Amino acid sequence: MANQTYWGRYTTGLEHAVQKELRSFSKLSSLSISKRNCFFRYRGKIKDLLRMRTLDDVYLYLGAIPNIATHRKSLSIIENSIGRFDFRHALTRLSSHRTIPPMPVFRVTVSLAGGCNYNREEVASRVAGELMRQKLGKWNPQPKRGSFPDIDVRIHKQGSKCLVGLRVGTFPLYRRSYKKCHLKGALKSTVAASMLQMASLHAGLSMLDPTCGTGTILAEAAIAHSSNRLIGIDRSQQAINCAKINLEGLAPHVNLSCGDARNLPIPTNTIDRIVANLPWGQQVAKDHDFIQRFLMEIDRVLVSNGIVVLLTPEIDEIKLSLKTALQFRRAYPIRLNGRTVDIIRMEKKS
Ligand SMILES: C[S@@+](CC[C@H](N)C(=O)[O-])C[C@H]1O[C@@H](n2cnc3c(N)ncnc32)[C@H](O)[C@@H]1O
Repeated sequence: MANQTYWGRYTTGLEHAVQKELRSFSKLSSLSISKRNCFFRYRGKIKDLLRMRTLDDVYLYLGAIPNIATHRKSLSIIENSIGRFDFRHALTRLSSHRTIPPMPVFRVTVSLAGGCNYNREEVASRVAGELMRQKLGKWNPQPKRGSFPDIDVRIHKQGSKCLVGLRVGTFPLYRRSYKKCHLKGALKSTVAASMLQMASLHAGLSMLDPTCGTGTILAEAAIAHSSNRLIGIDRSQQAINCAKINLEGLAPHVNLSCGDARNLPIPTNTIDRIVANLPWGQQVAKDHDFIQRFLMEIDRVLVSNGIVVLLTPEIDEIKLSLKTALQFRRAYPIRLNGRTVDIIRMEKKS
């Protein structure tokens, strides 16, 4: 395969996990990574990139439009420049891994970092107008929620330039087919995958999510290592029912039950990895004594040298409450739902 430049988008703070996963692709070169975006050259099959678990999305990178400012004249610059990118060639590349009709339906997804005197709809309409003039396809300005046209043209304004790409897949990478049941507070799949990587989950290890909700972390673990023993606990029966739906057919070795993370129905020293997205009290209510009792309990069930990875906004309370054999190792601040929270990694030392 010829070398092609790709553009990946990811959740702020996950650069470490994204780099590690990208480097595991042997046919990848020239990786550069900056806030929320990464660029790399890859000479393997395009469809292999759809296996990426930590990237929110991946695009064939067509290039950047320079000299973009906040004033409205920039709209004409974008419109006049879009024609210089080789969309036909890019569509031929995409058709090497999925069916693209002769007159594809496309949408234009725009993000504008920083304030501007124009909006996303105006940019989309200028870009779409030019692509239709070139008879590249039919524009669908407002696809129904959850439906995906044949092509997604991606425009992202960052500083004084606009990045231009075509989505490799039909739908975004972060959207997983196992997610059939949703509840408030469900974790973003790519964050769950990154947490498992930080926990060094590998084949043969047992893993517990003591506040499993809809089962996102368990599902990502099952995809990575289908034969691992996985345990999911949540105090809400509704959440457990939802996790069962999401994990159906995915995880033959998963054990899901209703229970309290402060009093786990699990024998002492039996779990290799604990990975969890704790209740935040923002979307999901949390009890006042939760952190102290939870830490004592996970310390009890974890084997010596076992690893814990937690997503929480309460890093200070966790550090202060560490009176057990659990030792704090590292924090990775990430941006999620408009706020900064931490993924923290701890190890049990005997
Ligand atoms: C942020 S949500 C987890 C979301 C989950 N990672 C997902 O992707 O759906 C936190 C979960 O903790 C559960 N929870 C709250 N207190 C608990 C407790 N004491 N024991 C067990 N689960 C609890 C809530 O029912 C909720 O499902």
